Amino acid sequence: MITLRVNDRAVSLNVPLHKRLADVLRDDLSLPGTKIGCNAGDCGACTVQLDGAQCCACLVPIGQAANSQVLTVEGLADTVLGRRLQNAFRTFGATQCGICSPGMLMAAYDVLTKHARPTRQQICDGLAGVLCRCTGYQKIIEAVEICAEGTTDAVLSEHGHVGDRLPKVDGLAKVDGSEVFGADGIPKNARWIRVIRSPFHHATFQLGDLRLFAQRAGLLRAFTAADVPRNGFGIYPTIKDQPVFATNKVRFKGEAVCALVGERARIEAINLDEVPITWTEHPPVFGIAESEAALAIVHADKPNNVLIDGHVRRSSARRDASVARSAVRVSTTFVEHAYIEPEAGWAERVGDRLHVHVTTQTPYMDRDEIASVMQLDPTAVRLVPTACGGGFGGKLDMSVQPILAVAAWHLSDRPVALVYHRNESMASTTKRHPADISLSMEASAEGKLTRCFTHAKFDTGAYASWGPTVATRVPIHATGPYAVQDVSARGTAYFTHCHPSGAFRGFGVPQAAIAHEAAMDALADQLRIDRLEFRHRNAIRVGDATATGQVLRDSAGLAECVDALRPRWAEWHTSVEAFNQRSATHKRGVGIGCMWYGIGNTSLSNPSSIRITFDHRGFTLHSGAIDIGQGSNTILTQIAADALQVPSAQIALVTGDTDQTLDAGKTSASRQTYVSGQATQRAGLALREAVLRRAAVPADADARIRVISQGAFASLLISSDGGSVELRLPIGETLEAIGTFDPPTTPQDADGQGEPYACYAFAAQIAQVEVDLELGTTRVLKVAAAHDVGRAINPTQVEGQIHGGILQGLGLALMERYIPGKTENLHDYLIPPIGDTPEMEVFLIEAPTALGPHGAKGVGEPGLVPTAP
Ligand code: FES
Repeated sequence: MITLRVNDRAVSLNVPLHKRLADVLRDDLSLPGTKIGCNAGDCGACTVQLDGAQCCACLVPIGQAANSQVLTVEGLADTVLGRRLQNAFRTFGATQCGICSPGMLMAAYDVLTKHARPTRQQICDGLAGVLCRCTGYQKIIEAVEICAEGTTDAVLSEHGHVGDRLPKVDGLAKVDGSEVFGADGIPKNARWIRVIRSPFHHATFQLGDLRLFAQRAGLLRAFTAADVPRNGFGIYPTIKDQPVFATNKVRFKGEAVCALVGERARIEAINLDEVPITWTEHPPVFGIAESEAALAIVHADKPNNVLIDGHVRRSSARRDASVARSAVRVSTTFVEHAYIEPEAGWAERVGDRLHVHVTTQTPYMDRDEIASVMQLDPTAVRLVPTACGGGFGGKLDMSVQPILAVAAWHLSDRPVALVYHRNESMASTTKRHPADISLSMEASAEGKLTRCFTHAKFDTGAYASWGPTVATRVPIHATGPYAVQDVSARGTAYFTHCHPSGAFRGFGVPQAAIAHEAAMDALADQLRIDRLEFRHRNAIRVGDATATGQVLRDSAGLAECVDALRPRWAEWHTSVEAFNQRSATHKRGVGIGCMWYGIGNTSLSNPSSIRITFDHRGFTLHSGAIDIGQGSNTILTQIAADALQVPSAQIALVTGDTDQTLDAGKTSASRQTYVSGQATQRAGLALREAVLRRAAVPADADARIRVISQGAFASLLISSDGGSVELRLPIGETLEAIGTFDPPTTPQDADGQGEPYACYAFAAQIAQVEVDLELGTTRVLKVAAAHDVGRAINPTQVEGQIHGGILQGLGLALMERYIPGKTENLHDYLIPPIGDTPEMEVFLIEAPTALGPHGAKGVGEPGLVPTAP
C-alpha cells in the first residue's frame, strides 16, 4: 500500500511498486490530464510536479513517489499562479492541439515558482524537457512572460467576430486537463488489442495456430486477414492496396499481420517471440534508385515499381532568349510527423452499427473506409472523433480504425481499445515522401524567368496512400510562385519496402520548394540581381498564367509579401556583415525562400457542408471540420458569429461526430478556413435571414442579435436603429440553415493544363543563420515571415500556424531524418525543442480572394513550405 498526496489530496494505492506514476495517475486515480506521448522521458507530455520539482511521470515508479506531493494539471487551477498560467496559455495562443499543454503548463509552473521574472533563457531552460510540435514555442514563451508580468487579462473583443483575436473557443479544456484525446476516454470495461507486426522489411510468412496460442495465453481471440470482409484500404476510390492484416507477404517493417485481444494486463504481458509465425525474409528494395532499377518488385502488378507519373507542360507564345541557367539536384529523406499524441481509440458494436471513437483528421473518410473494409453501409458506422493531439497529415490515413472495427464487430459484448505506443506509431504510419528532384531554370537578360524543367521522383513506400496526390501536386507547383514562360514538370512516385509515404504538411511542395528556391538564388547571383529583388521581379501576379495555364484572377500577394520583408532584409544584411567582420569562428548569413500553395484538393471536388441551428438551447454550429490544433473550431465560430451578427460566446459547438454533423471534408491541404469557412458563412447568413424573417425584421436591417434566454424556450433580442424586437422559440421548434461550398476547379488535360485550385496562398520568409565554423553547427537566429492569407480571421491563430510551420520547416532543413527500423522513437528521431526557437516576426498580408470567407485563404501548409529553402 502506497500513500502520497496528489493535488493536495491524500491517496492510498495498492498497485505494483514498479507501475509508472503516469499510469497510476491516469488509470488508478482517473487523472488523464497527464498525457503519455512516448513513455520514455523524451517528449515531456507527462510532466508533473513531484515534491515541488518538475519530472516526467512516465519515468517514476510509483514506489519512488511514496509519501511525496504530486501536482498535476488538474490541480493547477487550485493555485493562483496555475490559474494565471492557464489563462495566459489560452488567451495568447500558447495551446494549439493541446496534447503538450498539460506538461508544458507544469514545466512553466516550475519556472515561475523558481523565477518570479524569468529571462527568456530561463524560460527556455525550464521548458526544455517538453516537446511541442504545433506552436513553434514562441507563443508559449510569450504566455509565460506575460504571466510573469501579471498581465494575463488581455482586452479582447466582446463579440469575437472576424478579425478579432478571440481565444480558442475550445481552449479551456486544453489547459485544465479535461480535454479527451484518443487514449483518454476508453471505457473501463474495454478489452485491449495488441497488434503483431512484421519484424522484416520484406518477407513471406505463415501463421501458426493462433487460436491455440490465444487460449494458452489467456487471451480472448486473435484476428487475421481471414476476419476482414474486404482486406484492403486506401485514400483513392480505385486504389485499396493496403491490407488491414497482411495475408502471406509483408512489404514493410511494422506492417500488421494479426491482432490479439484480451484483458489489458494479459495483452501487455505477451512475449512477442512466442507468437507462432514462421518468417522467410527476402531482399528489400530501398530508395528511389533501387526501386527504379527494379532490384525487387513491391507489387506484382507494378513490374517497374511505378505508382503514378504526373506531368505539366506549357509553352507560352512569348519566348525570350535565356542568358542565365541554373541546374540543381535535391534529395530529401523520410520525415516523421511526430505528433505528440500516438494513434488511439476505442470502438463498440451497438446493434447493427459500429461506433468508433478515434483521433483523426477526417471523420467522414474514416467512416466510409471502415464501412468499406467491413462491407457495411456507411450509415452503419458512426465515427466519433476524439480531440486530436496533432496530425499534420499523418492522421489522414487509417491506423487503429479498421483493427478496432474488426474486433468490435466480432466481440460485441464489450468495447475494444487500441493505443499505439510511440515506436509502433512511428514504425507503422506514414511519413513525408523522400524526394530526388532535378530542376533547371533559365532567365532572360532582363532577369525574367523563361524556362523551368523538373523531374521530381518520390519514394512512396509500400502502399499508395497519398502518393498520387504528391506526384500530381508537385508538377503544378514546381516553378515556385513565379511567372515562367515555358514549363515542363514531371512527378513520379515509386514503391519501395518502407512504410507508406503519405500526407505531411505540403504534399511534396516543401521538397519542391527547396529545389526551385536554390535555382532562384543561383540565377539571381549569375545575373547580379539581389536575391529578394529577383523574386519580386518574377513574382506571379494577377493576370499571369500558372504552369497549368490558369490565369490568376485575384489575390496573388507574393510581391506584397516580398515588399513587407525589404526593411528586415536590408537591416539584417547590414548587421551580419558587421558581425562577420568581428567574428572569426562564427559567420552569419541571410537567406530568402518563397512559396505558393493551391488550397484544397487538386482538380477534384472538395465540398464542405455546415449546419447551424437555433432552438431552445440557442445557436449551435454543427461542424464536421476537425480542429487538430489549427483553430478551425474558433475560426468557424467567428465566421458564424459574424454572419449571424451574434456574439461568438453565444454559439455552441458540436464537432466531428458523423451522426451529428455533415461532411465538411478532411482537415488537410489548408482547406478548412477557405472551404468550410465559406460554407459556414453561407449557413450563418441563411439562418440570420430566417431569424429576421420570423421576427418580421427586414432582411437588410443592420441588426444585432443576442440570445437573452434559453432552456424551456429560447428568446432572442434583435436590435437595430429602428428599435428592438424579441423573438421566442418554444421547445420542439428549430430554425436551421445549411451552407455548402465546393471550390470551382477543372480537371487537368493530357498536358496537365487546367484550373486545379480555386485559390492560392503565397508567402516569403527570410532567415538569419549562424554557422559555427569549428563545430559545423548551424543555428537559425531570426525568421521574418510574410504570408498572404487573404484575410486573417483570427490573427492569433494565423500567427500560431506560421510559427509552428517555421519550426517544422527548421526540423526538415536541419535535423529530421527518419530511418526505417532505426529511428522509431523521439530519442533517436529529433524534432526541434524550445531552445531551437528563433526570433520570429510575422507580417500578415491580406490580398482577399473572391470566394474565401471575408477573402480568407488557408495557412496551415504555407507556414512550413518556404522555411527549409
Ligand atoms: Fe503542443 Fe500540439 S499544442 S503539441
